[in-house]
Parts: sequence; C-alpha cells; structure tokens
Amino acid sequence: MHDQSRRRFIQSASALTGAGLLGVSARAASITTRLSRPPTGPVVIASANGLAAVTKAHELLIGGADPAVAVVEGVGLVEADPNDMSVGLGGLPNEDCIVELDASVMHGPTHKAGAVAALRDTVHAAQVALKVLQTTDHVMLVGEGARAFARQNGFPHQDLLTPRAREAWLRWKQQLNNGDDWLDVDQRDWDLDTNKAIPRTTGTIHCSAVAASGDLGSCTTTSGLSYKIPGRVGDSPIIGAGMFCDNTAGAAGATGRGEAVIQSCGAHAMVTLMGQGMSPNDACQAVARTIAERSKLQRRLIDERGRPRFDVKLYALSKAGEFGAASIWSGGRFAVADEAGPRIEAAAYLYERD
Ligand code: GLY
Repeated sequence: MHDQSRRRFIQSASALTGAGLLGVSARAASITTRLSRPPTGPVVIASANGLAAVTKAHELLIGGADPAVAVVEGVGLVEADPNDMSVGLGGLPNEDCIVELDASVMHGPTHKAGAVAALRDTVHAAQVALKVLQTTDHVMLVGEGARAFARQNGFPHQDLLTPRAREAWLRWKQQLNNGDDWLDVDQRDWDLDTNKAIPRTTGTIHCSAVAASGDLGSCTTTSGLSYKIPGRVGDSPIIGAGMFCDNTAGAAGATGRGEAVIQSCGAHAMVTLMGQGMSPNDACQAVARTIAERSKLQRRLIDERGRPRFDVKLYALSKAGEFGAASIWSGGRFAVADEAGPRIEAAAYLYERD
C-alpha cells in the first residue's frame, strides 16, 4: 500500500472507532489488502461452541444452500443442545428464573435482517429471526410479540429451563447477598455440596458463512447474560453490534459482554474495517482494542492495571473467505470449516491471563 493511501486508511479507521483511541490500535495492526478473488469454496466460522454448527453449515453450503439459511440451521444444533448453557434449550435464565433468548440473522445478497429479543418458550430463536427476515417488513420483534409470532409460525412453545440451569440459578440466588434470608452455601450446616461451580455467562453462538459465490450470511443467538434483569437485551439481536453482514465486504459477530459490544457497534465496525481493506484478524484486534480503551471510561469495568474485567470475543469473515478472531483476554478459540475441514483454532488476544 502506498504511504498516502496507508495514511488515508489509518485516518478513516481512527474516525470510525473514535479519534485518538483507535489511532494506536490501527497503527499496531498490520494492514493488508483485501483480496478481490472469491473463496475457492464455502467458508464458515463460529464461536468455539460452534464446531457442530460450522460442520453442518459447510455441508449445506456445499449442497447449494443459502448462506443465511445455512448458518441458522448450523446454530440450531447448539440451540437444541440442553448441555450448552449459553443458548436456546438449557440456557441460563434471568433474575426471575425465566429463560429469555436473543437472536439475529442477516442475508448478504438482499441486506435484509431479522431479529428477536427477550423471546420466551421457543428453542430456535435464530429460526424465528429468519422468519422475521423472510416474511415481514420489520427487522426486530421483542418479548410477547416475538413469542406470539413464533407460535403463529408453528414454533412449539416449550419450557427452556432445564434442571441443571434451574439449579445454577438457585445457587446464584442463594449466594446473592449474605444479608438476606437465603442461607449461603458456607452458612449451611447440611447439604454442603460446595464444590459445584455457579456458572455466570455471556456465552453465545455466532456463525458467519461465505458461499463459493461470495454471498454472505451471518447469525448470532444466545440466552444472554445469565441472571440478567428481565427484559435486558444484549448485543446478539442488535444489527451492527453482535452481528453484521455486508455482501460487498464481509460478515462479523461477537460473544461476551454485550453491553461493551453495543457501545462500540462491534460487528459493524469490523465489517467496515474489512471493507476498507483490513484483514479479518486485524479488524477483530482493532475492535477489541477500541472496546478495551473505552472500558477505561467506566472505572468499575477495569482492574488496577487499566485492563477490562470482562471479556469480549470477536469473529470476522471476509467476502474472499479470509477469517480471524480476537478476544480481550488470552485463551479464546473459534471454530472454522473450509476445504481443510472443520476445526478449532486459537484467537488473537490483547492481554495474557495471569
Ligand atoms: N453477548 C451476549 C450478551 O451479552 O447477551
């Protein structure tokens, strides 16, 4: 890249994600030219809990499926898995012990989007989001409206709370406040099964795909932040936050602390950076840096060394089939399926865990 166009690129990246803040990030990230060639075959990426999802979506794309349909079908395997406590059936409930799901999907060729938020009693939130995309002139349905729409479209109502998720909620509730009338685990003189972990999660599944034609699809689905205030909506169903797709550039998504991703329009920022020529991996790292920098404006979110107390994982896939992922903290992984087969790869990161 010529010096002048390189300078222009860095300026536009800084303008996109906040003057001064991302200036450092954009310079640190290596800048690559976006490939104009189409992928040699379908490529699918997902969060680390999406190995089965990328495998299925890749198979469907080989068979000629639409990329938005392929990713929704792929994540459907995880939504139906009661052992994944971050999404669909078995997802951890809200403060009132009710599971509320968020999901969104985008279709590259038409730039249409569909989303549902705070959806109850329906396993396949991503499929409901796809119905919103395919059959309405709207983008997002929430709460009771989303639940009724799902039922009208033939999605059965089902209790999403599994015994394991209910027990996790109960243990969270019992240990919430040592001044309340619930006995904390260490205050009991019976039933001292203290070794059971109390999972608290912002886990989610994101999945993006590019077909051999270069058409893109993208989807994110989740039960959201565990034990959230009822009605809380995270980044997953917000178009441009937890998921975004632009058929001229690429697709991207996020998992982790949704509030941070919303406040930086994470997926839209990654796709915009890819459209300006940045590689998917560098786009993920640049947005991770922006989120980390902005967290410093809220002191409760950072540790004594100015590092975020939370994690966010970012995933990006270009129209050419290049892909990448980055998290704030080390240890992040992601799933990918391409002509080399389905596998888990390590994500880039900003900070090494102690
Ligand atoms: N990223 C999932 C959530 O915060 O709801």
